[in-house]
Amino acid sequence: MCIRDSVCANYIDTTLEPPFVALVVSGGHTQIMHFESYRRASIIGQTLDDASGEAYDKVARLLGLGYPGGPAVDKAAAKGNPRAFHFPEGVVSGSDFSFSGLKTAVLRTVENLKGAELPVEDLAASFQDAVNRVLFRKTIAVARSKGVSKVVLAGGVAANSDLRKRFESLADIEFFRPAPALCTDNAVMVAAAAFYSGEPVPLSVSAYSRQR
Ligand SMILES: Nc1ncnc2c1ncn2[C@@H]1O[C@H](COP(=O)(O)OP(=O)(O)OP(=O)(O)O)[C@@H](O)[C@H]1O
Ligand SMILES: [Mg+2]
Repeated sequence: MCIRDSVCANYIDTTLEPPFVALVVSGGHTQIMHFESYRRASIIGQTLDDASGEAYDKVARLLGLGYPGGPAVDKAAAKGNPRAFHFPEGVVSGSDFSFSGLKTAVLRTVENLKGAELPVEDLAASFQDAVNRVLFRKTIAVARSKGVSKVVLAGGVAANSDLRKRFESLADIEFFRPAPALCTDNAVMVAAAAFYSGEPVPLSVSAYSRQR
């Protein structure tokens, strides 16, 4: 299996070949990975606490936007001002991330606004800006330090329209991202992962579910 099946969604209908740097942002992961080949990849940085998707989901709940929170925050943020509130990026050096402080900052702001009508769109836009700003900056820094000219987005948060726009704005880096419908878990990415990363498996092989 691919080291990260969500990354393999980027091999579908594209010319992508390693080496590249991947930002994997999902419900359970936030990692910057360096893919030297189809089967050789290393983790350069990762979250020390919450995954980015988890932060999106928790903040969405806080703002009364429901689950899954990522798409709802994305939609609300499009109508908000990302500079309305200043939320911290998290004080982690190097290529790692931390999102628990940001989540707490949104919580405190919401608590302080109790009684007044919540400016949901501005809060969503300011939170999204803080998350995406640091994801973008650290991923690009890794790509440049590794001398890699291709960057790949993967995982559910890769569907985020603001995050995609940031990477699309670069002139010197070729940017790959799956179609939005292929960002969250799906059978196509798993098939691509099997194709590119594993030994050929006969069709007679048995399938086992991890579900008990
Ligand atoms: N447009 C969006 N903007 C931000 N986040 C999004 C968007 N669309 C989906 N997400 C987030 O993506 C996450 C789900 O992604 P995915 O299905 O890749 O995660 P997972 O499979 O649960 O996690 P993992 O693979 O790490 O175990 C959810 O947290 C969801 O809120
Ligand atoms: Mg997954």
